[in-house]
Amino acid sequence: MRRGSIVQLVLFGVVAGAAGTTLAIAPAWLPEAASREAGRIHFVFWFVTGICIFIFSIVAAVLAYSVLKFRRKPDDDSDGPPIHGHTGLEIAWTAVPAILVTAIGVVSAIVLAKDDAAGANPLRVEVVAQQFAWSFYYPSYGNKRSDVLRLPVNRSVVLRMTSRDVAHSFWVPQFSQKQDLLPGIHPTLHITPDRVGTYPVICTELCGLGHALMRSQTVVMKPGAFERWAKSGKQASPGGATAPAKGQAGLTLFNQQGCNACHTLSAAASHGTTGPDLDKLPAEAQRAGVPLEKFIVHSITHPNAYVEPGYPKSVMPPDFGTKLSTAQLDQLVQFLVASAKKGTK
Ligand code: CUA
Repeated sequence: MRRGSIVQLVLFGVVAGAAGTTLAIAPAWLPEAASREAGRIHFVFWFVTGICIFIFSIVAAVLAYSVLKFRRKPDDDSDGPPIHGHTGLEIAWTAVPAILVTAIGVVSAIVLAKDDAAGANPLRVEVVAQQFAWSFYYPSYGNKRSDVLRLPVNRSVVLRMTSRDVAHSFWVPQFSQKQDLLPGIHPTLHITPDRVGTYPVICTELCGLGHALMRSQTVVMKPGAFERWAKSGKQASPGGATAPAKGQAGLTLFNQQGCNACHTLSAAASHGTTGPDLDKLPAEAQRAGVPLEKFIVHSITHPNAYVEPGYPKSVMPPDFGTKLSTAQLDQLVQFLVASAKKGTK
C-alpha cells in the first residue's frame, strides 16, 4: 500500500472521528448525574459511545477513500478484479467486534452488580404509587409520610415500591434508573444520591388521564438537615392512640389518598384540574339534585355513577371507596362537608 493512501485513510478517519466526537459531546444528551449509580451508568454510556466513534471513523474513512479512489472511470465498462476473500481481514473484522462487545458486556455487568449492592445500613423508604400521586414512607422514622421524596446526600437508599391500583413507573432522570410499580409486588431500587438539589419524580407508565400530572419531587439534603426534617412534625400513626382532630384527619386522608393530585380544594391548598373543583361542591350537589353529604359519600364510593358535566367518566378509580375504612370514609366526608360549608359563607 502506498504511503499516500495510508495518509489519506488516516486523514479521513480523523475527520470522521472529530465529527462523531463533536456530535457526542456538543448536545447535552444526558441530564446531570445526581447519584453514584447514575455516575456509573453514564460511564457505560460514554464507554459505548467511545467505541462507536472508533468504529465509525474506520468505516467512514474506508468508505470515503474507496468512493474517491475506486470510482468507475468514464467509458470503463470492465468488471472489477475477482476477489475471493481475505483470511486475515476476515479474522480481524470478526475478532475486533467480538472483543468490543464482550468488553461492553463485562463493563455493564460490573456496573449492574455495583448499582444493585445496597451496602450496610441503607435508609429504607417505602414508595407507594396510586392514580395520580406519589407517597413516601420512612419506616425508621415512625413511618413518617411525605408527598416529596426527601433523601440525605451520600447515604445508600433502598426504595421499596408498590402500587395501590394500576401500573406506574418511578423515574428521576438525574438518578438514571426506572422502576415499574405494580399492585401486589414490591420491587426495590437502590440509589445513593451524591449531589444536594431538587429533582423531579416522574411517572413514566401511562396510568390514566392524570398520568401527565403524576409528578412529585425528590429533595437531596445534607444529612443534618434530613435528620431534623425526618424527626420533626407529626408522625403518621394510622389508627394510633394520638389520632389528630377530625378535620386534620380528613385533610391528611385527602392528601394521602391522592385526592389533592386531581382536585382543587382551598382547604387543602390543592390545585388539581383533572377532576371537578371541590370548592364548588355545594353547586355540584345541587346540579346532581342530591343533598351535599349524600352527594359526597356517593361520589367517593361510586365515583362514576354521576360525573360532573364537563369531566370525563371513569377517571376516578371505581374502587376508590373500598380502599377506605368506614371511619376513614367518614373523616374524609366530614372534612369535605366542613370545607364546603366554610366556602359558601
Ligand atoms: Cu402513574 Cu403514569
